Amino acid sequence: MRKVPKIPAAIKKQVINNMFVKNYKRMWPYVKPVWFRALCTVLLTIPIGSMDALIAWAIKPYTDAVMVEKTMTASWYIPILIVGFTVVQGGLTYMLNYLNTWVGGKITNALKADLFRKLLTFETEYFTSKNSGEILIRFNNNAEGACAGLISNIKSFVQKFATSASLIVVLFINSWQLALVTTVILVFALVPMSTLKKRVSPVLTHAMEINSTLMTKYNETHAGNKTIISYNLEKYQEKRFLNVLHKNFSLQMKVFQRTRWLSPVMHIILSFGIALALWFGSHLILTHQLTPGGFVSFLTALILLYQPIKSIGGTYSSVIFSFWAIEMCFDMMDTQPKIIDRENAIEMPKEHKQIKFNDVSFNYLPDVPVLKHVNLTVNQGETIAIVGNSGGGKTTMVNLLPRFYDVSSGSITVDGTDIRDFTLKSLRQNIAVVFQDNFLFDGTIRENILLGDENATEEQLQSAIKMAYLDDFVKTLKDGLDTHIGERGVLLSGGQRQRVAIARAFLKNAPILVLDEATSALDNKSEAVVQKAIDNLMKEKTVFVIAHRLSTIRNATKIVVVNDGLIVESGTHDELIKTECGAYKMLYDMQFKSDKKEQEQQSE
Ligand SMILES: Nc1ncnc2c1ncn2[C@@H]1O[C@H](COP(=O)(O)OP(=O)(O)O)[C@@H](O)[C@H]1O
Ligand SMILES: [Mg+2]
Repeated sequence: MRKVPKIPAAIKKQVINNMFVKNYKRMWPYVKPVWFRALCTVLLTIPIGSMDALIAWAIKPYTDAVMVEKTMTASWYIPILIVGFTVVQGGLTYMLNYLNTWVGGKITNALKADLFRKLLTFETEYFTSKNSGEILIRFNNNAEGACAGLISNIKSFVQKFATSASLIVVLFINSWQLALVTTVILVFALVPMSTLKKRVSPVLTHAMEINSTLMTKYNETHAGNKTIISYNLEKYQEKRFLNVLHKNFSLQMKVFQRTRWLSPVMHIILSFGIALALWFGSHLILTHQLTPGGFVSFLTALILLYQPIKSIGGTYSSVIFSFWAIEMCFDMMDTQPKIIDRENAIEMPKEHKQIKFNDVSFNYLPDVPVLKHVNLTVNQGETIAIVGNSGGGKTTMVNLLPRFYDVSSGSITVDGTDIRDFTLKSLRQNIAVVFQDNFLFDGTIRENILLGDENATEEQLQSAIKMAYLDDFVKTLKDGLDTHIGERGVLLSGGQRQRVAIARAFLKNAPILVLDEATSALDNKSEAVVQKAIDNLMKEKTVFVIAHRLSTIRNATKIVVVNDGLIVESGTHDELIKTECGAYKMLYDMQFKSDKKEQEQQSE
């Protein structure tokens, strides 16, 4: 067996360099549209950075003229030159920062837009496996970190580099021996930079996770506000929040420890350089190898050099952070959604004759089957009611239709074609879903209903509102259809929200309708109205209905009872009710009894 040779240091270095190349390469599509201004930004830093050196350089003739030769001619123009330079430097710096903000903003937006597009492609499972804070951090904050870092860091890096390089030139002009000593020390000062990335990346990733938990806590407090109040959970929520804050704090300190040691270490190495240069410089002056002007100029350059080199460490930490953020962003970009169009996917036709579940099994988690070998045939125009115990898999079953999830085995076909062979867009266009808790967007009632079909005419809109039994309600509103309903429709009652969702489904006018406990969250009175709206919606559609109240599904073409992922019974209401000790009859009797009890209580 051949011995694997040890990786030489030079190649290791190559790998580190590749990190730069790799990240900048990936960012290039975002930089490209603004490349000219980006380049201007970077180039501008060179004159700005080098101007310090000019001042240091000018000090030599000045000092020699004033202090050694005692001529006064130089004493007036050098100060003026210094002021002039500073003014120019200030102006250029403003321009630089302006460009930097512009370019950075453009790049950030482009990256965020792409990330958001990516976010919209992910399937339900992706969202259930991530908390809301994580989405926020991964798709928003990291994009900001990536771009802000990218531009402003190259900028300050190049600027500091330009300053240092030109100051080193001044050092050489004054005394090559001194300059040589200083340069060697400087190179030493840069060495610790190379170990930074490896040490800091894992901590940054961990910090991101904690930070996203923090964001989630805010979201929870917003969305769960009523629960928190009604169960007096303020202390509980506070405790959980403080816990995350505390973790966040320790991680921030850890990030600090792992990055910010760089500056003091470089600082200390530099002080050796300065001490050595001073000692050596004094020696040169005393032995008349250097003029006092030369020495002062040298010192000025050295002092000016101190600042950028010292802070290059800090800048480098930020560069590492932005590289990490870039990597995170592109990790997201490279993540492939699991539910996508197949190659050669076809449009699902608007008409269908038969929908079939063929031996469908499904599990969310490995080895925990939720649906087991489900077979079901539904013809066009039929209403299939799915009933059964809670957690039995009813929602899961209908969630497979619009491919919120894909079957684990078996298939669902429409007229013989696997639904996975249809384009997702056409499949979902053909299915309207009304959930128990429908998501309404922040906006007006009109906007929310028109989401069903943005090209709907006013007539169609009005008819949908009528069919959804919304017209009476809308009439009572000052702003009518243009009334704002708040985030998630919080300004509406449950029944109103439900009817807005039904009106939206009306406009969508899909041939397949899925109703998942659409009235379960409502009180009896609003349930009655919503049920009437639903009855309208169901006309001429193939309907899958999961209903809590069995009385509403008596007229279904077929009722299937799903218990623990198995279809245990199916048939019409009349057939099933006759089966003594049948699952359906038991459910029905149970509900009938509790309904009767309720009625008795009400009449008492
Ligand atoms: N996203 C999920 N991840 C893991 N398990 C889930 C998920 N959603 C539902 N389940 C589980 O799948 C089973 C069926 O759930 P569901 O179809 O919602 O039941 P039903 O609608 O009949 O009340 C339940 O045991 C539930 O805990
Ligand atoms: Mg359910």
